[in-house]
Amino acid sequence: MTYAAITGWGACMPPAVLTNGDLSTFLETSDEWITSRTGMRERRISHVPAAELSTVAAARAIACAGLTAADIELIVYGSCSNEEQVPNSASGVQLALGATHAAAMDINTACTSFLYGLSTATAMIRTGVVKNAVVIGVELISRYMDWSNRNVAVLFGDGAAAVVLQATDTEEGVVGSVLGCDAEARPTLRVRGVGLAYSGCNITLGDTAWDFDGPQIFKRAVRAMSDASGRVLHQCGVTADQVDLVVPHQANLRIIEGVAKYAGIPMEKVMLTVQKYGNMSSATVPVALVEALEQGRVAPGATILMPAFGGGLTWCSMLVKWGQRVTPLGQSSAALPPATKTALELVNDIRATQDPHGRSAAGLSRALGSEMPA
Ligand code: ACO
Repeated sequence: MTYAAITGWGACMPPAVLTNGDLSTFLETSDEWITSRTGMRERRISHVPAAELSTVAAARAIACAGLTAADIELIVYGSCSNEEQVPNSASGVQLALGATHAAAMDINTACTSFLYGLSTATAMIRTGVVKNAVVIGVELISRYMDWSNRNVAVLFGDGAAAVVLQATDTEEGVVGSVLGCDAEARPTLRVRGVGLAYSGCNITLGDTAWDFDGPQIFKRAVRAMSDASGRVLHQCGVTADQVDLVVPHQANLRIIEGVAKYAGIPMEKVMLTVQKYGNMSSATVPVALVEALEQGRVAPGATILMPAFGGGLTWCSMLVKWGQRVTPLGQSSAALPPATKTALELVNDIRATQDPHGRSAAGLSRALGSEMPA
């Protein structure tokens, strides 16, 4: 039988750090509120486009696997903050990498985009369509954040990471996947202003209003990730105490604690990055996985549980069996240009471009109408 081993990994975090204190310079919020409600202390703001973060992360993952860009047969770009709709983002990464033999596709399931992409690429390798793939989780939410809305502006950050999958005969990689979607909860998380539905509204990217029912998403996230994790463990015949590491979506420390509690897995076995990167949507799981490897938290042969949820509300949980190698085969020289502005300066630049007609977020929401088709 063919499996899809994870043989390469690499992250690309923008260097500019936005602290809770920075946020409180323009929002009515505090370090105490953000830390106690979410566990977040800092997040990153990108000074480059998402495609550039993705290309550096992918180049690092490819070198880590001991491959070259020309070896790659598929690029899957998991994101909900694409710079363009047509052409797709994966083709831009293909071009920048010089991965001329790779098919290229985007997947958008919001915060679960990386894991849905991992599941898709694994299936394509296991069925013999391709021999290898790069799967990217990347997000540049700062560009379309409504920075006047404290309910959401404090929660998100930018970042990217990628993994390389390769066909193998040994039982490795994703060995179980449970995916689903609570579509009746679509209105709990909606970014008004991004997408064709808003094409007649004379709205530019960056001028958005977020519908965001935090407490409802919170409850549903804990339930969906817990159910999916229980089901994937059952499907694979693995007990909670056989899980060596949990690498969850990082939307809120309290959500992660809830999921770990339901699963019966101690927090010592949970990889956390939420305190320093916030919620990077589809990038959170791969970035946390890369950091777990770099910190020596992934042992050869480890069993890793990866639950996530996102707008839709999509949800999933995957069980990964790690191989014997936990160190890179090679290193890439790919790097970002230095940031010449602080994170607060970058955010203030975005804020200055938002709402150019003097509309408040509430006004924008009214302009777009309170009703959207489900
Ligand atoms: N600073 C200060 N006060 C704030 C802030 C802020 N940044 N944001 C909201 N508040 C206020 C509200 O106005 C409200 O005030 P009120 O009670 O006077 O009306 C109060 O704080 C709300 O407090 P709580 O209900 O206690 O907040 P809660 O504990 O539910 O935490 C939070 C809110 C953090 C949003 C939580 O519900 C949550 O994490 N939900 C899930 C969010 C999430 O997962 N988002 C990602 C979605 S999917 C994806 O990953 C893309």
